Amino acid sequence: MERRLFIRLIGGGVVTAATVGTLSACSSELPAPALAAWNGPGQPPAPGTDPRHWLLAHAILAPHSHNLQSWLVDLREAGHITLYCDRSRLLPETDPFSRQMMMSQGTFLALLDLAARQLGLRADIELFPQGEFGPTQIDQRPTARISLQPDASLRPDPLFQHIFQRRTNREAYEATAPAADAMATIAASAAAPHTVVGFVGGSQPQLRDQHRQVAMDAWRIELETPRTILESYRYLRVGPAEIAEHRDGISINAPLVRAVTALGLFDRTQAPKPGDSAVAGQIKDFNAKLATTPAFFWLTTQGNTRRIQVQAGQAYARAQLAATAHGLSMQPLSQALQEYPEQAVPYAAIHQLVGAPVTTHTVQMWARLGHAPAVGPAPRRGVQALLLPV
Ligand SMILES: Cc1cc2nc3c(=O)[nH]c(=O)nc-3n(C[C@H](O)[C@H](O)[C@H](O)COP(=O)(O)O)c2cc1C
Repeated sequence: MERRLFIRLIGGGVVTAATVGTLSACSSELPAPALAAWNGPGQPPAPGTDPRHWLLAHAILAPHSHNLQSWLVDLREAGHITLYCDRSRLLPETDPFSRQMMMSQGTFLALLDLAARQLGLRADIELFPQGEFGPTQIDQRPTARISLQPDASLRPDPLFQHIFQRRTNREAYEATAPAADAMATIAASAAAPHTVVGFVGGSQPQLRDQHRQVAMDAWRIELETPRTILESYRYLRVGPAEIAEHRDGISINAPLVRAVTALGLFDRTQAPKPGDSAVAGQIKDFNAKLATTPAFFWLTTQGNTRRIQVQAGQAYARAQLAATAHGLSMQPLSQALQEYPEQAVPYAAIHQLVGAPVTTHTVQMWARLGHAPAVGPAPRRGVQALLLPV
């Protein structure tokens, strides 16, 4: 795939020959500082000491749309954590109402809760303590205020054990369908108010094909819409220097893409022209992955308030951890769920396929599900980067 991309982007045999020799010296492993957060915070804090950094060191490993890590944390109030959404890290084109941002606040809260239980602490999470945001915009008010209380009756949650293994996996999945007991555990782990989860797999091949087709259509639209592909480019980090500097976004460290970028042939300030061969190649590669995806998972809610969006994010994080516990991978497919006008047809189609009437229900998450080769972790900025000045 890399070679194909390389040739498509570069086109010229001379450049290819001149560059290939240098590529063997490159590694596609991500730079260690970008992954330091995955080493964990070490031993649990001693009783009587402040546990909050330890809790946050787990929460930051949560999935977040585009890996933006739009979390800001205020620790000024002893025994409490106040969480804000970092409004300098939004996706106005692909997430125009910040619905995925709210879900990504929820994923953080879910991991924080698991870590607190591990210490015998009850995390009382008050969502929107100063009131909920309106439906289209978010503002400076906090998304959650968490009060930490010792509670001897609490038991650790087994999902905690999988925080460090969870990955968003964008590889090709094996044909083997997820086992029924795994799907049952995922569904039970994601139980939340107003929420229904569902699956489609090999027992409903026609329906699964329809899911695959909607995902293909939506992905193509996202890549062919100039302002949405440019938004993705803005958070693309190519090569070790960019990855280590930002420690967020979507990392590409494949030698061929690095070479193309270094040669100035991958211009991320311009949307690709219609019919661009690199985009066509990406669509083809992703279609091939979709065509062999054995199952899809979804999570719908009745209603779409900010509270429900955050709760959907909590449910998704738990679902993905439960999948991890069963050796299963997930990759969200957000394109068809996105509210920008070009996605109207896939948006209606996926709602219809999962039985969620658009007037009352929202598909908050839709994901590939299956067994896949292991992948490495994604960068994190670390706890310090999220802390508001004390
Ligand atoms: C609300 C939400 C939407 C997401 N949408 C997508 C998506 O459309 N495609 C994708 O590949 N990953 C998607 N992700 C996964 C993130 O890109 C991923 O969590 C992030 O890159 C960090 O990687 P990690 O999950 O392996 O830690 C989404 C995650 C969340 C929470």
